Parts: sequence; structure tokens; C-alpha cells
Amino acid sequence: MAFPRHRPRRLRTTPAMRRLVAQTTLEPRHLVLPMFVADGLQEPRAIGSMPGVVQHTRDSLRRAAAEAVAAGVGGLMLFGVPKEEDKDATGSAGVDPEGILNLALRDLARDLGQDTVLMADTCLDEFTDHGHCGVIDAMGRVDNDLTNRRYIEMALVQANSGAHVVSPSGMMDGQVAAIRDGLDAAGHTDTAILAYAAKFASAFYGPFREAVGSSLQGDRRTYQQDPGNAREALHEVELDLDEGADIVMVKPAMSYLDVLRRTADLSPVPVAAYQVSGEYSMITAAAERGWIDLRPAVLESVSGIRRAGADIVLTYWAADVARWLS
Ligand code: PBG
Repeated sequence: MAFPRHRPRRLRTTPAMRRLVAQTTLEPRHLVLPMFVADGLQEPRAIGSMPGVVQHTRDSLRRAAAEAVAAGVGGLMLFGVPKEEDKDATGSAGVDPEGILNLALRDLARDLGQDTVLMADTCLDEFTDHGHCGVIDAMGRVDNDLTNRRYIEMALVQANSGAHVVSPSGMMDGQVAAIRDGLDAAGHTDTAILAYAAKFASAFYGPFREAVGSSLQGDRRTYQQDPGNAREALHEVELDLDEGADIVMVKPAMSYLDVLRRTADLSPVPVAAYQVSGEYSMITAAAERGWIDLRPAVLESVSGIRRAGADIVLTYWAADVARWLS
């Protein structure tokens, strides 16, 4: 045995000793809160499969965002939910400066200024009537390059609306380079790109589809990754780094901690992980049944994601955890 005299329990004897030797830190600034804002709502609307998470009105979003920022979260990630009748084949409501996501970005940019990092989901699925993350060609396939052109438009409107970070989540090839070029050409050289670099075709996005009222029939397996493919995930990360990603993300988090660790080992830029809707719902549901204790389970899950290599964790518990930690 390498260290025959070593008794690890000595360093676990008191809370002070455990604090002294703790390796993984979890602070509010590490956390980003994903938020939903819906067009045409009079009141915030509960999301049945995500108890505690709502679709916000513009006003309730402003209040909740201010509270989360006051609690110390590192940033906010906004998703827009258009009215059903405003969805179309190319996701026009997403590129409309008067669309709900862009209006909400302007609200929060005005309210919060430089006090937080405002991030926007740069993807079409919330805005298309078919629910896919891109534009569909004559054969019914998601057209990669036409979609990228739409992402550029979307990113520009988001940057103009006050987003500090745009976040392409559609897994089109070349999306980061396309958006970087588009932003730079328009003078938005300071707008950062958080790339959903390794995003898997996951069953754990189920509740999110309710959260954004997704119209998707079928699946996203022609653009999101096969859950078993780790080498391909690292290749996706490298491609996004080459294309100019400022932050790379792995998603979901808990079933992909190995991919997260390996991404953190190779990435020269900060690494994020997204604890997605289904991860939130699982823990919430078990806690509601009294099967697990919510707070320690959440802290353990988020700390575990940090330990595996995430600098930044997107989690629907961001504001709660920030409050628990203070
Ligand atoms: C796509 C997008 C999705 C999520 C974030 N961005 C849905 C999908 O890919 O189907 C999922 C987030 C979650 O499940 O919490 N715009």
C-alpha cells in the first residue's frame, strides 16, 4: 500500500477540518439561471412537469431576474415562447426585434445593465411551427447552411437587444463560425458566444418541450449527438473552439460527466454544463414524494457537476442555490 500510515478520517473529524480540506467550491457566481418568457400571458404560467419553474410575463420576468441577480447568480439564460399563431416554418418570431425574446432582452438590459451577464438561446425550435431547431428543405430535412444564415440574423437581433452572450444550441455544423463572422461584420466584436458544443439527443429534455410549448413531432437525432458517442463529443468541442467559441458547454450534465471532465481537460476557454429540465424534474419529483431530501440532493448534484469540470453550471435551481449558499 502506498501510504500505510494514512488514515483519511482524521481530516473529516470536524466541520472546520472538512471546510479546510474541501476541494470543490460552489458559489452563486458559478450559476446561470435559465428563464422562460412567454408572449401574450397575463399571469406567469406554471410548467406542470417542472414544479417551481414558470413561463414568465415580461413583468414577472423582470422581477424574478432582479431577484436572481440580487441573490448573486452569475448570469441569466433567456428562452422566448411565442404565441402559437406567430410560429412559422422559419421561426420568424425569433428574429423579429419586437418578438418576445428580444423585447425581454431589452427589458433586462435596461433594468440590469452590467450587473449581470445576459445570455440568449440562439435557436429556432421555440419559434418554428414544426418545432425543429432549423429550417426544413424540400426533402423534409433540416438544412444546415440555410439554418446558419437564420442563426446569424437571430444573433444580431439578440446582440442589438442587449444580449452579452449568444448561445447557439441547434448543433448545426459551422454555427459558431457563422455567428462569429456575422457579429464581427456588424461591429458586435464584444458579444460572446456560448457554444452548446456537445449536445446530446436526450430524453432529459422532455419537460423543456412543455416549458416552451414545442411543436416537435419526432426527434432531433440528425443534429443532436448520439448519447453513446464520447469521441465525437470531443471533436464537436474542438470544432467549436476552432470556430471561435468563448465558452463551450456540455449538455445534459449528469449523464455526461465523463464528457464534461474530458472537455474541461482540453478546453482553453471556460466550460459550462447544463443541468437540464429532466434532471430538475427527476430530483424535484423524488423530493415531492419524500424519497430524497431536496436541498442536499440539489447541492450534491450541482457540486458534482462542478467537480467533473464545469466552471459554470446552468441550472433551474440557480437562484435557490444562490440563496441557500448565502
Ligand atoms: C434548444 C434547446 C433545448 C434545451 C435548451 N435549448 C431543447 C432541445 O434541444 O430539445 C433543453 C433545455 C432543458 O431541457 O432544460 N433550443
